[in-house]
Amino acid sequence: MRIQDARVAILGGRTGLLGQALTKAFDQAGAQAFPLSRQDCDVLDPMSVEVWLDKNDPDLLINATGYTQVDLAEDEPEMAFALNGTVPPLLATLAARRAIPFVHYSTDFVFNGLKKTPYTEYDEPCASSVYGISKADGERGLLKLGYKRTLIIRISWLFGPGRTNFVKKILGLADVHKKLTVVNDQIGSPSYAPDIADNTVKLLEKDAAGLFHLANSGHTSWHGLANTAVMMANKNCIVSPIPTTAYPTKATRPHYSVLDLSKFTRTTGLTPRPWEDALKQYVMGDLGLGA
Ligand SMILES: NC(=O)c1ccc[n+]([C@@H]2O[C@H](COP(=O)([O-])OP(=O)(O)OC[C@H]3O[C@@H](n4cnc5c(N)ncnc54)[C@H](OP(=O)(O)O)[C@@H]3O)[C@@H](O)[C@H]2O)c1
Repeated sequence: MRIQDARVAILGGRTGLLGQALTKAFDQAGAQAFPLSRQDCDVLDPMSVEVWLDKNDPDLLINATGYTQVDLAEDEPEMAFALNGTVPPLLATLAARRAIPFVHYSTDFVFNGLKKTPYTEYDEPCASSVYGISKADGERGLLKLGYKRTLIIRISWLFGPGRTNFVKKILGLADVHKKLTVVNDQIGSPSYAPDIADNTVKLLEKDAAGLFHLANSGHTSWHGLANTAVMMANKNCIVSPIPTTAYPTKATRPHYSVLDLSKFTRTTGLTPRPWEDALKQYVMGDLGLGA
């Protein structure tokens, strides 16, 4: 689709980590972005979305909302399934009725992490947490509808400006602790929100639809990500590796959830930059830390 001058409705665009990056990316690409808060549209009340769509007539609907608290989801499965499972197909239907494309984001946590090579779009979801199962439910609902202009993008380990995230939390902790421990036996692909947003634009420019994996290139552990960020920011803190067994969490996370990005590259001709380059931009550019 033509992005220039397109009217783009972004649910979660006011306050969400990814939504804010999308708002910026579409504006920079020459579109007119409409970042929406839950006051503008409560996605749990599809009528409120429909009223907004009727009034504003966008050319594209993006869902950057979701229930994103992975551990809390274990205690609030109904809310997680409502937001991540039930809402996406309802939103896709609103978009399809208007014959406009719909974009939705899912997660590497739909996989159980037993694979040893990067997960492709052809691997079957098999989540081991309420969050992952609820996100897989949303994907399934969307795919079952079979709308030709629905784009589902699985992303992983999101960080970036605008809202707290793993990297920001680690850098805050490194200010007050001389030593930190972080798990090193969960391996994944970090994703810089502005890069995900820019590459979403690239996929739409190619009229991409269906399921895609997207992240920055390369992979690391949570320890690798934390340690690299702390070193880039010149913090006086030692980050030591520990196994997951030494840091139990309510939700089970995959030990390996690296995403294969080759479908994205085949479709756009682009390779996302390495996560280390994106992290440098976040730590030194966005946060203004380091040398
Ligand atoms: N963060 C990650 O590491 C990660 C990894 C993989 C996939 N994803 C997926 O990527 C997407 C975006 O994630 P994110 O990290 O950017 O999420 P986020 O920062 O938690 O933002 C979620 C957004 O959804 C909004 N929202 C929640 N409930 C709503 C409702 N009922 N009506 C309207 N808006 C509502 C929130 O508004 P308030 O600010 O008012 O609460 C917020 O703007 C999600 O689908 C997530 O599952 C994230």
